[in-house]
Amino acid sequence: MDPTRHDLLIRGGTVIDGTRAPRFDADVAVKDGRISAIGDLSGHGARMVIDAKGRIVAPGFIDSHTHDDQAVLSQATMPFKISQGVTTVVAGNCGISAAPLRSDMDLPMPLSLLDMPAEDRFTTFRAYLDALRAQPASVNVAAMVGHSTLRVITMDSTDREATPREIAAMQALVEEALEAGAIGLSTGTFYPPAVKATTEEIIEVGHPLSARKALYVTHMRDEADQVMDALGETFRIGRELDIPVVVSHHKVQSTQNFGKSQVTLPYIREAMKKQRICLDCYPYTAGSTMIRPDRGMLECRVIIADSQPHPECAGRDLDDIAREWGVDKVEASHRLQPGSAIYFLMDESDVQRILAFDETMVGSDGIPVGENPHPRLWGTFPRVLGHYSRDVGLFPLETAVWKMTGLTARNFGLAGRGSLQVGNHADIVVFDAATIRDAADYASPKRPAEGIEAVIVNGSITWHQGIHTGARNGQVITRNS
Ligand code: ZN
Ligand code: CU
Repeated sequence: MDPTRHDLLIRGGTVIDGTRAPRFDADVAVKDGRISAIGDLSGHGARMVIDAKGRIVAPGFIDSHTHDDQAVLSQATMPFKISQGVTTVVAGNCGISAAPLRSDMDLPMPLSLLDMPAEDRFTTFRAYLDALRAQPASVNVAAMVGHSTLRVITMDSTDREATPREIAAMQALVEEALEAGAIGLSTGTFYPPAVKATTEEIIEVGHPLSARKALYVTHMRDEADQVMDALGETFRIGRELDIPVVVSHHKVQSTQNFGKSQVTLPYIREAMKKQRICLDCYPYTAGSTMIRPDRGMLECRVIIADSQPHPECAGRDLDDIAREWGVDKVEASHRLQPGSAIYFLMDESDVQRILAFDETMVGSDGIPVGENPHPRLWGTFPRVLGHYSRDVGLFPLETAVWKMTGLTARNFGLAGRGSLQVGNHADIVVFDAATIRDAADYASPKRPAEGIEAVIVNGSITWHQGIHTGARNGQVITRNS
């Protein structure tokens, strides 16, 4: 075997390797799905060559927070992620996972956000991962099992605490999911199916995580007035199970809490001295989730993203809809359920402070359903690189890349990914640091980002000069692989 003959050569670019180290000029070579050489490779050859002169060559981005569980099967080319340079998604967030489920049931909100058809649901976590292996997506997938999903299939009513028998049943399902390759357990105690779950229930259900040091990932009970209590609960669960915790999409919402990240972040930093804590964040002042009139969600501007009974309302302001219908916003939102909406509940300075916090990973939290999704689905990663790093100057490009590659791979235990090193999986993105930008906004949320020139997944060119090649070379990443 000729060590100077590769499958692919990316020539003349500037490498940002995902470790936060300063950039350096180098060629990058790929062979058999792995990075085969980095350096001055002028004497080397390859079947294919990408000219990267004047461009950044970085590890493929890892989306630390997604709801792509079903999309990786039903929209397997994943254009909304590939076009941003994302090569790996972490699915199963906020307590919601595609497995295990049953076919003989209606899924309550927010489970229905995943848009899972009743015909082919997966009754075991293993069956879900096997389906992904049989029909790979264009991106790699690491998946968690969701506590709300487990409650929904285990309990006749989720409107109460779980009984010891139900807890034991959920515990067995967590064990089974981990055995199959789930990387952790997520909860969403903010959401109706899990509001009644006690801290003790979560600790009990999460017991199987301890032996494997798998992750506990949570959309916390409260991200507004009680956010400090919610952080305390999250840290306690991590300590009692002796596992790393991830605070999902950290934010402080509602006007009266603006500025509170000045309190939450020092608290998180202090707790980090005693236990492993990570957090993710999306770079927008609006969030998006199910349509719900409670929890102060309607106190801000609300745009309807998707409504099952009123699809014609997608993209419109709730205010306008309510006025047109001659009802108040609460009544209008009831009529629009089930569906999802965009809520402008955050302050720009909190978003910037949380994003800039050195342990914060970038995660889109995009919901890949409907015609009017939150623009984070198509824009998150270029927005951090272009708007926040280059234009606002929030942090150097090396830090921005690290927050979406090396840091995320380390936190989630994704071996052989997240940095450009010989021997690692060849997940690579080539982009133009001068022009990269998110083009999706609230009015046109599905506009692909600009400046991403090439995306390579396990050695396969998947995106090149604005065109998806159709390659579907993603792998299932399990806890042990
Ligand atoms: Zn969430
Ligand atoms: Cu989420």
